[in-house]
Amino acid sequence: MAGREEFHPLRLTPTHRRYNFMQRLLSSNQYRVARNMTLIAEDLHKVFATRHGSLTVLRGISLSLTRGDALAIMGPSGSGKSTLLHILGTLDRPTRGRLIVDDIDPLSLSERELADFRNTRIGFIFQDHHLLPQLTVLENVLIPTVVQQTASLNATESWARQLLERVGLSGRLDHRPAELSGGERQRVAIARALVNHPLLLLADEPTGNLDRANARVITRLLLDLNQQEQTILVAVTHSAEMAAAFPRRLEMRDGQLIEMER
Ligand SMILES: Nc1ncnc2c1ncn2[C@@H]1O[C@H](COP(=O)(O)OP(=O)(O)O)[C@@H](O)[C@H]1O
Ligand SMILES: [Mg+2]
Repeated sequence: MAGREEFHPLRLTPTHRRYNFMQRLLSSNQYRVARNMTLIAEDLHKVFATRHGSLTVLRGISLSLTRGDALAIMGPSGSGKSTLLHILGTLDRPTRGRLIVDDIDPLSLSERELADFRNTRIGFIFQDHHLLPQLTVLENVLIPTVVQQTASLNATESWARQLLERVGLSGRLDHRPAELSGGERQRVAIARALVNHPLLLLADEPTGNLDRANARVITRLLLDLNQQEQTILVAVTHSAEMAAAFPRRLEMRDGQLIEMER
């Protein structure tokens, strides 16, 4: 009985509570920092079954990326860039090939485990930012943390605020998406994609709907955050200017990735 009383949360002293909180925080931080997490794709193929027969989109894609890497993928419309991002992000399965993210084979996980895996390791940024109109900027950024609470709510919210400050929106926390410009909404989407400290950040034409000045801001921001957070950044883009800012560029051609010259 005495033991049970000891663990009653309301009877914990502030120091105990602080200690519990720090322990959780530290264990999640160690988890993030201590390991050299990688993304390995081996010989990915993707064939879609269509009404007009089978359509081969990816024909042997291999990649080996580690924390801090940033990769731009270019290529004509319909060449399979989004298909590849979806497969790397575990939203779709390859027809053949192997994918290892953070030492785990996501293709071997159950749907539930996979949803968890995705939520804790992968951030997505799309051309259309898909913000929820009825939520504020801060609430939109916190959405991914609702499913998976790894740190305390206070720590999570403080991180979301930091990210919003980093993307230049600390004065807009209580605004709704409708009150923001396209570039600002895209910045909210970037903060949201980073809120769970993903290993892998996938961006599908993130500047596609933006003017040139905003596109530059977003490109710089993605690359800076890639270095600060040591994510693996894979961005699909039509913009030669955006691609030029990346340390490595690949082109999708005939279902394969080809290294582009500088
Ligand atoms: N679910 C699907 N079923 C059938 N065909 C698809 C599907 N998704 C994409 N495709 C086809 O695969 C090709 C590559 O598409 P996508 O990856 O979206 O190209 P990109 O992003 O480079 O423009 C296109 O011809 C597209 O029509
Ligand atoms: Mg696409």
